[in-house]
Amino acid sequence: MIPENTGPAAVIVLAAGAGTRMKSRTPKILHEIGGRSMVGHALLAARSIEPRQLAIVVRHERDLVAGHVAELDPSAAIVDQDEVPGTGRAVEVALQALNAKEELTGTVVVTYGDVPLLTGELLAELVATHEREANAVTVLTAVLDDATGYGRILRGADGTVTGIREHKDSTDAERLIREVNSGIYAFDAAVLREALGKVTTDNAQGEKYLTDVLGLAREAGGRVAAVVTADRWQVEGANDRVQLAALGAELNRRTVEAWMRAGVTVVDPSTTWIDSSVTLDEDVRLLPNTQLHGSTSVARDAVVGPDTTLTDVEVGEGATVVRTHGSGSVIGPRAAVGPFTYLRPGTVLGEKGKIGAFYETKNVTIGRGSKLSHLGYAGDAEIGEDTNIGCGNITANYDGEKKHRTVIGSGVRTGSNTVFVAPVTVGDGAYSGAGAVIRKDVPAGALALSIAAQRNTEGWVPANRPGSRSAELAQAAINNSSSTPASTEEGK
Ligand code: UD1
Ligand code: CA
Repeated sequence: MIPENTGPAAVIVLAAGAGTRMKSRTPKILHEIGGRSMVGHALLAARSIEPRQLAIVVRHERDLVAGHVAELDPSAAIVDQDEVPGTGRAVEVALQALNAKEELTGTVVVTYGDVPLLTGELLAELVATHEREANAVTVLTAVLDDATGYGRILRGADGTVTGIREHKDSTDAERLIREVNSGIYAFDAAVLREALGKVTTDNAQGEKYLTDVLGLAREAGGRVAAVVTADRWQVEGANDRVQLAALGAELNRRTVEAWMRAGVTVVDPSTTWIDSSVTLDEDVRLLPNTQLHGSTSVARDAVVGPDTTLTDVEVGEGATVVRTHGSGSVIGPRAAVGPFTYLRPGTVLGEKGKIGAFYETKNVTIGRGSKLSHLGYAGDAEIGEDTNIGCGNITANYDGEKKHRTVIGSGVRTGSNTVFVAPVTVGDGAYSGAGAVIRKDVPAGALALSIAAQRNTEGWVPANRPGSRSAELAQAAINNSSSTPASTEEGK
């Protein structure tokens, strides 16, 4: 049996505003911090309190926002705001849309799409207080040093909340009030519906203010109260890119701190950036300048960094990843990557394997204990176990039109600068000589050599580069050797 949902009747996320101060072709709420759009953070917090319905109100860049929301949270109702401006109107159209599905009773929560640090815990606390006190409206507030621009919380002599005054509509005395409206509330659905019917646009901005609901609810005999949070970041919105960066840095500070408390060593928290979606095990060590993005996960005892950026990479237990740029890859347990390594999508490195300095890999599966230690490219390839790929080896996987596969067996030893001209297969235990160009399959256990015999043209440099430093030194060496016993003719 599915347990009955005890969450609020609905959460309404307001996101119709223009966000012009971002100066961006991307809608404001699609800008990201911590690897997730601002509206993505807002939707997660909203979902976490398990509302029976979730609606988001859109208007500016409607299609872009709606498309993004549909991807993140397909069951969220997308509601279009009409020409009537204001937060009150936004909530009114959402209520109408939600009521068409189910007559709303109980608690309706309103939040903003551009307040990304708000947590589900604080929302849950707001709802719990609202329901425990049987309030008509409970508003989330914060006390700020500079309250400019915000709606101010009006309280009576006994401290009870009597209303909210918008900055533009307030008197000089009211502007001294430092307790501000966050714009996040819990409402009784019936009170909200009733009050919104009475809200006018008779104010400095000619908008339907949601804030007017507080006064109307009191007039109708309802109790209005506030939950004051000491954590101002949770109610802070991002209106421009300066605020976006500040919120991003604070979110990261919180994410890094939470991982340290969970048993991760972070040597330099200020240069370590961890997306909200990353997962880390106990006893992971992150060295300075490490950035972990997307679905990246790091298992126990692994060391990542310094100077490493990983996106959607799975790092196995005890692995080391040094000065590496990687995406869409799997690094096996106790494997070693770097320094200066570029892992592209589809790289799968087996247990105790190695991809060393100045290697680029893509779409390659590397078996247990196999090593690609220095300087090369491996793409569209499969390499068995305990194989050693020599320095400077390259898979020539692209013929100018199509990509082809290279299959290399287990226990293989390749000479420096071997080139695999795909499609080609190398059997188990095979060797190749330095500089081999492997155009034909190599059977198991064979030695593949493809180089022509070396030819030395004696005296070429003094004859063809007269007057050069090389010619001068060569001539001296030749003169010197002709006066001593003849050396071996080998290599002639
Ligand atoms: C609003 C509050 C103010 C509060 C402040 C907190 C009102 C009247 N005022 O002011 O008391 O201190 O938020 O940030 O509510 N939106 C819509 N449709 C609209 C207008 C706004 O969906 O027609 C959305 C915006 O996208 C935004 C949120 O509502 O997410 C707030 O809008 P904004 O214009 O920033 O409100 P403020 O005037 O700052
Ligand atoms: Ca605002």
